[in-house]
Amino acid sequence: MSSAAVQAIREPKYYTVKRHLLENIESLEPGSAVPTERVLAAELNTSRTTVRQALVELVAEGRLVRRQGSGTYVAEPKMTWPLHLTSFTEQAAANGFTASTQLLAAERIKADEIVAARLGIEVGEPVCRIERLRLADDRPMAVETSHLSATRFPRLAWHMKKEQSLYAVLDRVYSVVPVTAEESISTAPASTREARLLNTDTGAPMLVLGRHSLDKSGQPVEWVTSWYRGDRVTFVARLSSPG
Ligand code: GLP
Repeated sequence: MSSAAVQAIREPKYYTVKRHLLENIESLEPGSAVPTERVLAAELNTSRTTVRQALVELVAEGRLVRRQGSGTYVAEPKMTWPLHLTSFTEQAAANGFTASTQLLAAERIKADEIVAARLGIEVGEPVCRIERLRLADDRPMAVETSHLSATRFPRLAWHMKKEQSLYAVLDRVYSVVPVTAEESISTAPASTREARLLNTDTGAPMLVLGRHSLDKSGQPVEWVTSWYRGDRVTFVARLSSPG
């Protein structure tokens, strides 16, 4: 059997509709209105349920946006976000955006086993936990939770109530600069809280970045988890051969 025949048998109907819609979207400007489910179903000679399934996926992938009570439109292209050991503030500026931040929490907690291992401290030692909403040109991009040793960085929560950039505070107040980091990327659905903060739907696909950064002496600086809207951003890493 040819591979085309295999595809024809296995491809669900909604996926064929989705591919067809995707081809149409590519020729349209961002902001163009997409016909209603009813019109598309009639045009494509299929059910509204099938069209809806295709549209839901295209919205989740950031190709279309739904506006409540108004309709469905072609989305703006995603932001390309290079992965560098820079701060959100610096990276947004390098990408041509203005960063802003809403502080959601800045508190002292006790290290659990995971945080203690990441920060190289004992379980139960004080940790500064900072939760922030990060925006680029006023568009919510990510919910970011940072953990740093409260012993190593005394009064950090107080500083973060006044400042936007964690890396600027680390450098200016504590003379600490992260110089190496491990960054992980995984996917997860948005919780109701993240969805509300990021102005999206519960269950929307998120890209979850985990950064563990170290200073020049190899001491852990931060353990950070950042939940980005998967429909808004494409992360790009520049790779080079190890040889
Ligand atoms: C990025 C990183 C975080 C880091 C933050 C600092 O978002 N993923 O690990 O803490 O930048 O950014 P800023 O200095 O703007 O607070």
